[in-house]
Amino acid sequence: MLKKNSAILAIETSCDETAAAVVVAGQEVLSNVVASQDELHSKYGGVVPEIASRAHIERIIPVISEALEQAGIAPADLAAITVTNRPGLIGSLLIGVSAAKTLAWAWDKPLIDIDHVQAHIYAACLDADLPSPFPAVALVVSGGHTSLYHCHEPLEIELLGETIDDAAGEAFDKVASILKLGYPGGPIIDRISRAGNSRAIKFPRSWLSKGSLDFSFSGIKTAVLYHVRGQNARAKPVELDEKGKADVAASFQQAAVDVLVGKTMLALEQQGLGRVILGGGVSANSALRQEMTRACQEAGAELFLAPLAYCTDNAAMVAGLAYHKLRANQIADLSITARA
Ligand code: KG4
Ligand code: ZN
Repeated sequence: MLKKNSAILAIETSCDETAAAVVVAGQEVLSNVVASQDELHSKYGGVVPEIASRAHIERIIPVISEALEQAGIAPADLAAITVTNRPGLIGSLLIGVSAAKTLAWAWDKPLIDIDHVQAHIYAACLDADLPSPFPAVALVVSGGHTSLYHCHEPLEIELLGETIDDAAGEAFDKVASILKLGYPGGPIIDRISRAGNSRAIKFPRSWLSKGSLDFSFSGIKTAVLYHVRGQNARAKPVELDEKGKADVAASFQQAAVDVLVGKTMLALEQQGLGRVILGGGVSANSALRQEMTRACQEAGAELFLAPLAYCTDNAAMVAGLAYHKLRANQIADLSITARA
């Protein structure tokens, strides 16, 4: 009975995944349904907002029904309904927000609004056996964000630094596109890098000013482009074989990981903290997980990695965080809107 009293249904449609989940007491995941749209966007090499919104409309109701069914929870037993209402693609967010508002009204349930980036941080808490990772430095690395935070508590976070141009995931996707590897590029770069030499090419690491916790990934993207195509745009591109592509992928990945790990360790030192949280789609990257684990061990810091199932966009992380808002009585009303 207690279980059902704290079961929250979450809806997440901020980008190109239509997702719904039911989570109990902020930690016990009863269902986590994600309908990926990768096949719809892959031929365009990136997410097409109009296509994403239309696909969300078609999928949202079946995804929500499946999440409730898998969880074995009836609408009447839900403690609340929650939705990601910021930040993201406005058309995509609107579908989730409209669905959540409608269900909250029809089923007479409290409605809770959630920030997508904060939910990515919370993904590392979605494991019932974990001790609380707070306070901690959190690195959120995704297709839309690369940011460092001082997290005091799940709901109290302070921005320390962020990308001044491209997000890390965007750079992975663009490098994969330069190498004609397919979309989304992050997981492919991760996979093919294993056969490459990460020291084959010296791509630049952008540290910005001394002590800065901001990031920049546009320079390395251009460096990869020049390496593959040459600096003369009209020149014939270099034809890379599989080993050549693996070397470029591995060298790029190493450069990106060096900066992500280096700046996280710098934040840890600057803030005088002993815990690190890693979340967001790029946190699924095997080299990043490995290097961050090694660096944290060296620094004597505790690392909380988002489980692989909760790195890329999902609704379980949204439901988990919403439990803390419910407990803090931070309830939204039906006037909430989507915010890009
Ligand atoms: O968090 P997410 O699902 O969506 C956003 O909030 O943006 O992150 C998607 C990003 C994409 O850029 C994708 O290529 C990247 O995460 N990604 C990875 C890996 N898996 C997903 N990047 C590097 N290595 C991976 N294994
Ligand atoms: Zn995300």
